[in-house]
Formats: sequence, structure tokens, C-alpha cells
Amino acid sequence: MRSIEHTAGALVSRGKGILAADETPGTLTKRFAALQIPSTPETRRDYRELLLTAPALAEYISGVILQEETLRQETAAGTLLVAVCRELDLLPGIKVDAGTRPLSGWPGEQVTDGLDGLRERLAEYRELGASFAKWRAVFRVSDALPTAACAAANAHALARYARLCQEQEIVPIVEPEVLMDGDHTIERSEEVTGTVLQAVFAALAEQGVALEGMLLKPNMVVPGAACPRQASVEEVAGATLRCLRRHVPPAVPGIVFLSGGQNDVIATRHLDAINRAEGPKPWALTFSYGRALQDSALATWGGRPEHVTEAQQALLHRARCNSLAALGTYSPEDEEPVACPVLADITGGWHDE
Ligand code: 13P
Repeated sequence: MRSIEHTAGALVSRGKGILAADETPGTLTKRFAALQIPSTPETRRDYRELLLTAPALAEYISGVILQEETLRQETAAGTLLVAVCRELDLLPGIKVDAGTRPLSGWPGEQVTDGLDGLRERLAEYRELGASFAKWRAVFRVSDALPTAACAAANAHALARYARLCQEQEIVPIVEPEVLMDGDHTIERSEEVTGTVLQAVFAALAEQGVALEGMLLKPNMVVPGAACPRQASVEEVAGATLRCLRRHVPPAVPGIVFLSGGQNDVIATRHLDAINRAEGPKPWALTFSYGRALQDSALATWGGRPEHVTEAQQALLHRARCNSLAALGTYSPEDEEPVACPVLADITGGWHDE
């Protein structure tokens, strides 16, 4: 089996998902600031080290998406964090996009940058030990957005990125995120997610990307956060699966959802309902959450060395619940009776821009 197919399969092996810990220094600084944690290369390193070394994390987590800063950092004891990942049976991945910029000519639209010099960067990341990569495109929703121009520009960039990754034997995670911001309905979310996925898979085919050696990281189909009519867990699962069945070829080995600003327990319940639902599911359906895995751990840690163990327990708890959800065997009783620390909206979205 070609190595990228093997790696893609390993990333979505039974009951496992991916930890997204690739916030840029700017984004992590905002998250830290909300909890009065100073943000320095060392505190960011300490936090990432805490996450990666949570005991037996690899029982639930197959790989960790890192940020460029982390890829080059050493633990407090002087071991490269990438080497720590390998040692702990966690595949290291790397975010390679350069964030979003306004799309020229299309007010309100964003395009993701980062193709310049990408071939050389990927070769270096491969040398440093990365086995997979992530590129995120974002799509805002309104009655008029996203435009066809925005869908085409981002789909093209995602496909060029994916092809370059595969050239370097790195598994690309293709992440088209339809945002939850706004008051759009679940029906509108489904329509936009379908249009975007169609554009993305057309571009992937045009660029000759091997679907067997990639993973898709989409949003779940949920209503906008400000929509007056929120959807039930079953409705979200039904709309998400319908949309994926219509637009994602079965050759793709796995779909690893982002959490996108959903409450952490809700993100788990949605994943569980998706895996429990009847009907064809030709891909592994699992998680690649950032906030929904990390929020409780970050708040528990709060920058205090004496809270590292407790913070690791918080991460392991969410990882375990999501692992059960990836198998469709999660139940509300799996949540601990003790309340996690109150997460006073740690900070807005995953926006690096
Ligand atoms: P969230 O799960 O917080 O949306 O982050 C996932 C991610 O990798 C965003 O690019």
C-alpha cells in the first residue's frame, strides 16, 4: 500500500480522531489572554507539551496537528516535540496555510493564502517529521454568500495544496469550513456546504489528487449560531450525512469533522448521532477538533504548573468521549458528574486573520 494511503488509514483508525493544536501564536495569544495567561514561546510550548504528553492520549488520538512554531520546539527537558509525538504513537501533522485574506473584487469573501514556496516548505516539514498537513478555507454564509468566485478560488487553492502534499508523501487534510457565524437556517447551511463540497471535489479531480490518500475536514451541517430555530442532534446528523453522501466520493478514507465553535459536549453528541444513523457510510467518520477538545483543558490549566495533571485529565476525558462517539457508542453517562470549569467563552472563533 502506498505510504500516504497507509497514513490516511492510520489517522482514522477505529475509534481514533485527530487533535487540532495548530493555533497560530496570534490565535493562541487571544485564547491565553481571555484566561490571563501570558503568551510567550515558552508558555505556548508548555501548553502544547501538556496536551501531547497527556497519559495514553494515543488510545483515542491518532495524530496531532501542530503549528510551525511547535514543530521546531523542544520540551522543557530538551526533546523535540515532534520526537515526543512519535515516541507516544501520535502522528505529527502541520498546518501549512498562511491564513485568510480578503478575496479581491468580492467584498466580504476570504481566500486562503500560502501556495507560494509551499513545495519547499512541505519538503522541509517532511524532514522535520510531519506525516500529514492541514489547509483551511473559510466560507461565510448570507443570502448572497459564498459567491461562486469564492468557492472556485478556495477550491482551487485546496486542490493545489493537496497535490503538492501528495508529491511529498504527506497526507493532505482538505478543510473547507462553512462558518456557523450568522443567523442562517440549517437548510441554508446544507445548501452552502453541498455547493462548496461540489466545487472542492471538482477541483481535486481536476488537479489529479488521489482521494485514497487524503482526508476531508468539513463542518457539520448546523444552523447559524444566531438562527432562532436551532436543530436537534438527529436533524444535524441527518442533514450532515445527506450532504456528505451527495458530495463526497467513497474513495475518501475518512471524514474528520471540525468543531467550528460548537459547545464541546454538543460536538460529541453530534458525532455520536452521525455514527449511529442508519444508511451507507463508506468513510470513517471521526473528529479533528480544536476547541471542542481543548477548551476545558486550557481553562483547567490556566497557566498554572500545579494544574497540569488536572488539565490533562480534562483533555483525556473529551478525547475518550469523542472516541466513543466515533464508534457510535457514547452516552450522556460518559460525561463526568463533576462539572468542568465554567468556560466563559474563551475567545471567539478559530480565526487567524
Ligand atoms: P475547531 O474544532 O476549534 O473548529 O478547530 C479545528 C480546526 O482545525 C480549525 O482549522
